[in-house]
Amino acid sequence: MLTLGIETSCDETSVSVTDEARVLSNVVSSSVHLHKKYGGVVPEIASRLHVEYMIEVLSKALEDSDKDLGDMKLIAVTNGPGLVGALLTGISLAKSLSYSLKKPLVGVNHILAHLYSSFLNERDRRPSFPFLGLVVSGGHTALFHCEDIGSQRLLGSTQDDAVGEAYDKVAKILGLGYPGGPVVDRSARLAKGGTNINFPKSYLGKDSLDFSFSGIKTAVLYYVQKLRVTGYGLRVTDINDICYSFQEAALDMLVEKVMRAVELTKAKRIVVGGGVAANSRLREKMGRIASFSSMKIYFPELKYCMDNAAMIGYLGEALYKKGNRSDLYLSAEPNLASAGGLGT
Ligand code: KG4
Ligand code: ZN
Repeated sequence: MLTLGIETSCDETSVSVTDEARVLSNVVSSSVHLHKKYGGVVPEIASRLHVEYMIEVLSKALEDSDKDLGDMKLIAVTNGPGLVGALLTGISLAKSLSYSLKKPLVGVNHILAHLYSSFLNERDRRPSFPFLGLVVSGGHTALFHCEDIGSQRLLGSTQDDAVGEAYDKVAKILGLGYPGGPVVDRSARLAKGGTNINFPKSYLGKDSLDFSFSGIKTAVLYYVQKLRVTGYGLRVTDINDICYSFQEAALDMLVEKVMRAVELTKAKRIVVGGGVAANSRLREKMGRIASFSSMKIYFPELKYCMDNAAMIGYLGEALYKKGNRSDLYLSAEPNLASAGGLGT
């Protein structure tokens, strides 16, 4: 069923044409270069740029897919969570298209789209149900037990910062720019080793499946402040060691919670999604779990880790086929993650 996907929840303007897991086009245009100097996404700039880029991105997505607007059978759009102004730009376009083309509309939860994004992989790298799902993005960290597309139980989520947010904040403290994930990932690889700084890992009690990343971020801040006071400042080797030690501790927290959830649910498959799923060390650590157990681990291809419309189109179509419908009163739900939108 040809589906036009639209994603504008943060700083990526993206439009796709999909037919189930077949991606005919997936165009992404980011305003990240304009946010860099502020050390994070500026909501108004993101919204303005969506309005500027949107028609060009839509045209390119149609051109790449060799289809016309009239060929579309469904319009799927992210309606939360995210930045309210940014979400509204995509929703406005989606509603206008649905109204003028007389095609059905379905609102899609961005976090759940990340959760199921591995289904866009090549056929032999797509998961099957049931599985344990881990979403690690800039705004969210959440663990799910998934029985079927759209049927997931939330097992745990972050109580403060998301893991991607912690990467971004640590990068800001170290003066490495925004977004922080890729640069911290690279710097950690350059650390010489043997200098693992002991940043605290927070597990929130022995049975908890929730996450907390604000403590480790603050520990990095204090560590850097102390280094500066000594008068030596921050050398490149310090930065690499800090990135390495932060990353090891943060990812160990994730892996420990996943293993707790595996024990609880007896899951045989783990599926990871979201921007932090691009992290090379997380892939290594999860790969290690697979190598000493019969567990199968699935990551989305890199292009489907970051925000993209193809994952919205894919989930939108699957949910539509299960009976989900939105109408022209569809509104932005910036807090969809905390409003029970992830299941209970
Ligand atoms: O899923 P995403 O594109 O947007 C949200 O829904 O938030 O995730 C963006 C996040 C940012 O925090 C970014 O720093 C992080 O993903 N990220 C990474 C890597 N690449 C992107 N974090 C760790 N390692 C990476 N290689
Ligand atoms: Zn995202």
